[in-house]
Amino acid sequence: MTFRSVTLCTALVAALAAPAAAQTTATQPQLRTPDVIFVPTPQEVVDAMLEVAKVTKTDVVYDLGSGDGRIPVTAAKKYGARAVGIDIDPQRIKEANANAETAGVTDKVKFLNQDLFTTDISEASVVTLYLLPSLNLKLMPKLMKELKPGTRIVSHAFDMGDWKPEQTLNVNGRTVYYWTIPKK
Ligand SMILES: C[S@@+](CC[C@H](N)C(=O)[O-])C[C@H]1O[C@@H](n2cnc3c(N)ncnc32)[C@H](O)[C@@H]1O
Repeated sequence: MTFRSVTLCTALVAALAAPAAAQTTATQPQLRTPDVIFVPTPQEVVDAMLEVAKVTKTDVVYDLGSGDGRIPVTAAKKYGARAVGIDIDPQRIKEANANAETAGVTDKVKFLNQDLFTTDISEASVVTLYLLPSLNLKLMPKLMKELKPGTRIVSHAFDMGDWKPEQTLNVNGRTVYYWTIPKK
């Protein structure tokens, strides 16, 4: 082998190895631009949302747009529920997984880097939201179609237009809305 062919060979191996090394360390690429930015729900509001839904260890709680994972992590840690968080932003998923690890609830919680509008949410018994009024309205047909009658829906700050809530709470100036999916 000549000096030139050894040099070429070394360069080729380095080029092939580089993307593989990058894949193991870099955050996943973003699926698409989030519909709403990350703003966390204050912990006392998280607690009130899970309390109004009467979450227990038999529930499966889905947080659609789960941010740093505080709602699923609290549902698992405080109430023993199984919980799923869905977020389109891979950075949020990374933070949520770290928070689940710290809280010791990785056996009960999972975070999916998906678009909440395309994820199958049919196994949920409780759905939590902190999105936007327009996103709640866009989501409503999916909630009605996929969720079982009796599934509880809790939204921080935003209502569902003409769908009147069964309960409305004020938690330190924040509004929490509560509905249940009606019979088909
Ligand atoms: C206002 S934050 C709420 C975070 C968390 N649920 C809470 O209450 O603390 C909204 C989250 O939705 C995520 N998001 C926006 N559009 C989304 C989509 N289409 N699918 C999944 N997640 C989305 C954002 O990345 C962000 O983390």
